[in-house]
Amino acid sequence: MQYRVNTENVMEIATDCLVVPVWQGGELGEQAGAVDAATGGALGRIAGSGDQRWKISDRHLLHGPSGCAAQRILLAGAGKQDGLSAGEAAKFCASAAKGVLAGNIAHAHFALADLVTGNVDAAWLAARLAQESETAAYRYVATRSDPGRPVVLESVSVSIAGRKIRQALVRGAAIGAAVNRARQLGNLPGNVCTPEYLADQARQLAKEFGKLEVEVLDEAQMRELGMGCLLSVAAGSAEEARLIVMHYQASDNRPTVLLGKGITFDTGGISLKPGLAMDEMKFDMCGAASVFGAVSCAAELELPVNLIGMVAAAENMPGSKATKPGDIVTSMSGKTVEILNTDAEGRLVLCDAMTYAERFQPARLIDIATLTGAAVAAFGHHANVMLGNDQELLDQLLQCGQDCLDRAWQLPLWDEYQKQLGSNFADMANIGGKLAGTITAACFLSRYAGKFPWAHLDIAGSAWHPAAARKGATGRPVPLLVEYLLSLVDEG
Ligand code: BES
Ligand code: ZN
Ligand code: MN
Repeated sequence: MQYRVNTENVMEIATDCLVVPVWQGGELGEQAGAVDAATGGALGRIAGSGDQRWKISDRHLLHGPSGCAAQRILLAGAGKQDGLSAGEAAKFCASAAKGVLAGNIAHAHFALADLVTGNVDAAWLAARLAQESETAAYRYVATRSDPGRPVVLESVSVSIAGRKIRQALVRGAAIGAAVNRARQLGNLPGNVCTPEYLADQARQLAKEFGKLEVEVLDEAQMRELGMGCLLSVAAGSAEEARLIVMHYQASDNRPTVLLGKGITFDTGGISLKPGLAMDEMKFDMCGAASVFGAVSCAAELELPVNLIGMVAAAENMPGSKATKPGDIVTSMSGKTVEILNTDAEGRLVLCDAMTYAERFQPARLIDIATLTGAAVAAFGHHANVMLGNDQELLDQLLQCGQDCLDRAWQLPLWDEYQKQLGSNFADMANIGGKLAGTITAACFLSRYAGKFPWAHLDIAGSAWHPAAARKGATGRPVPLLVEYLLSLVDEG
């Protein structure tokens, strides 16, 4: 999709569809009022008819308006005029984009001047419009024989005046595309998206972006390094594990490492999961998918950062060679782990990857993982659940989440929880009992994060929509990760 700024008189813009916001209750803003006047009061009649309240999801498409060059006008509810929040402005963009995509519309112009208000910055709004347009246009077609109606929309222009609007559009579109990349990887089934498939994705990215260098470790190389924890997860599967490292270096600072859990299917292993909704465990690589999204976005935008994307990829299966409860394995760090539940596999692939990451001397490491059902129980599907060992890093991530509306919430990582990981037979167990499962999972990881500032994002709730009608990967927390990378650039 193409994005442009166009601050000409909107009445003269020859477009397939002119999008105009209508405040809740039917009030028109200044720009919308001008369009209303030019069209002989057509907008006011619809907006004021009382047919709709003009909540953010309300829309009306008007064909062949007179007095303006557009073929259609889409009136889109913008919610309450008083104190429009950034969150509502984002929802408006998503709803308006959906309205445009529903029609046979190749070019749309968004007359959004009225939405730039106290809480909503011009550049932010432009970026958000591009991001929401990209993500609204995403269709999953890879494994369908009927792809459905194709997306007709080719280009979007916007009337928002201000500085750096063009750059904002580029940035928003890149974030949207990165979100879609993550959604696509997440949505692909486990028999397509295997560890080797993910490795191939990394190689493809390296071809696409010259600055990106990729290294893929196979099981033999991991055995050599002593990655007994990671390998124990893949032991029952015919699919070989992979440790994927993507290095995008456009700064001389020490690297930021993003590490994604890439369990391409999680059956639970010998501690087999119940059958209900087990298909959703194809989404157990959404952490990895978000790393692909963030890395590709940084490369696309040529951000001046030093970034390493790592993915620990394996399939967790039962089988005659599978790891059994009670088995003890040795991690690359040398610490031994008693596997009391083979379904607590995410921390096992991550811990060896974290030890491997030490060689890069990271300025910070952020891991992203669909790690615990307990995170879903506590927070539902709205929050990225965050823990870590460096409050400054965590505070920055909290702020970035607020700014881009991909929010995180912190849980405590107090020492008291560590003893739940005690084992009679090894240095630690891989589970911490019934209580505080999200925290004890992070406690496990913390033991491998001693050498760098570390944040852990448990995205078990936020990574996909479970409801049958909208089931699918969300692409979170790509916006949060990219916002964080952008904040590093601002810092210089
Ligand atoms: N991938 C799951 C976590 C999960 C479950 C994410 C449901 C989203 C929805 C993870 O590997 C897992 O199985 N965790 C166990 C850990 C337990 C055995 C300590 C869990 O949360 O039940
Ligand atoms: Zn899992
Ligand atoms: Mn599991």
